[in-house]
Amino acid sequence: MNSKLGYADAIVGLQWGDEGKAKIVDLLSQNYDYTIRVQGGANAGHTVVHKEKKFIFHLIPSSVLNEKSVSIIGNGVVFDPKVFLEELDSLRNFDKNIDKRIVISDKATLVLPIHKKIDAIRDEILKIGTTKRGIGPAYESKVARVAIKLFDLVADDWLKKLKLLIQYYGYDPDGKEFNENKNFILKYKPYILPFIDDSERMVIKALSEGKKILCEGAQGAALDIDFGTYPYVTSSNTIVSSIFSGGGIPLRSLRNVFGLFKIYCTRVGNGPFPTEISDELANKIRDDGREYGSTTGRPRRIGWLDLPMLKYYARLTGTSHLILTKADIFSNFPEFKVCVAYQNNSTLDVIEEYPPASIHLHTPVYKVFKGFTSFDSVEFKHFISFIEEYLNLPVYMVSTGPEKDEYLILKPDIYQN
Ligand code: GDP
Ligand code: IMO
Ligand code: MG
Repeated sequence: MNSKLGYADAIVGLQWGDEGKAKIVDLLSQNYDYTIRVQGGANAGHTVVHKEKKFIFHLIPSSVLNEKSVSIIGNGVVFDPKVFLEELDSLRNFDKNIDKRIVISDKATLVLPIHKKIDAIRDEILKIGTTKRGIGPAYESKVARVAIKLFDLVADDWLKKLKLLIQYYGYDPDGKEFNENKNFILKYKPYILPFIDDSERMVIKALSEGKKILCEGAQGAALDIDFGTYPYVTSSNTIVSSIFSGGGIPLRSLRNVFGLFKIYCTRVGNGPFPTEISDELANKIRDDGREYGSTTGRPRRIGWLDLPMLKYYARLTGTSHLILTKADIFSNFPEFKVCVAYQNNSTLDVIEEYPPASIHLHTPVYKVFKGFTSFDSVEFKHFISFIEEYLNLPVYMVSTGPEKDEYLILKPDIYQN
């Protein structure tokens, strides 16, 4: 391979989201020229903590506080200009030059009030427990070829398209819905135009110049539209494949995949969660881990770490480096449980594989681990070795707190920049 060529690395959550991706993106993006979001939209809630000051990002990549990295919102993102501008405004108070470091793909899909309205109406029936950010309907419009793309705003060619979109959802193309959505576009369009560019060209050029790109995953692999517990999933591919279709990264440019998992599991919204617990301990973990949704404020459901699931998603995402997060939350626990297999409820066969399509027919089998008092302890080392052996993958890093400097590198040799 031409040694001058650049490459892309990806950060992906291996559970149901909120694995601490933003903290790791913020930390690692220092090593990259560009960071790109490739899927999802304002359903994401990504928290970065700098000296106790909390930043929550929904659309802007979590790298944006790094002065040297350009942050791109890629073509695969469904883009809500209102959320973006609110986020940007709060960042401008913090850094006057932030605008210069943000690019939005002209092929990103516009999220409009109609999408949020349809999301809320449908969720009344479907009970998925969506974030009500219009994500499903926006992706649906894209696939149905009735969406408005940001390039339509640049070309000022969106009025007729908006009528079609309103009609597609069964409303009068000249009625109240139309006016409301038209006014929304007119209000926000001038403020987003300066950020719009054909980002895939930037990506290809950057790679040809030997630059490095970090891809920021949103949601988690278990919420993947194809490989999650459908229909209790989000509406995009979260298993890394979106970096190609949603970022313009050529397949062969992908190098490392950092797969993140918490020492326990959480899930927001409905759907199967085999290792879920709802006792006093769950409340303690929720409070200690501050497990409340960063987008909706909902209390996150809590459960034990699920290794068959982790193995399944580590394989599907092509994870090369595991990163364990929130290890501090279990320090000083006398013991904790980890799911190591599944038992079929009728045949009683025990399998080490995660069966997402028939998960309701299986019961988790647990192994109890002794608690650890420090990350140097035999107990912690044993736990890490067990995971590495089970997944046949190395744990590169352990995150031990929300702040940027709270981490341990276990295997420095396997990642250099
Ligand atoms: P994301 O969606 O994957 O970026 O994760 P969120 O930001 O939604 O949720 C992770 C939460 O845990 C945030 O409040 C982070 O500040 C916090 N956090 C991240 N890593 C750690 C860690 O290792 N320990 C602790 N205690 N908190 C962490
Ligand atoms: P980050 O990037 C956790 C969940 C919702 C719901 C399902 C579908 O912060 O990890 P949607 O609004 O996407 O149609 O909702 O997906 N969900 C998330 N859960 N973290 C997220 O993002 C999520 N984004 C969506 O709760 O169950
Ligand atoms: Mg989150």
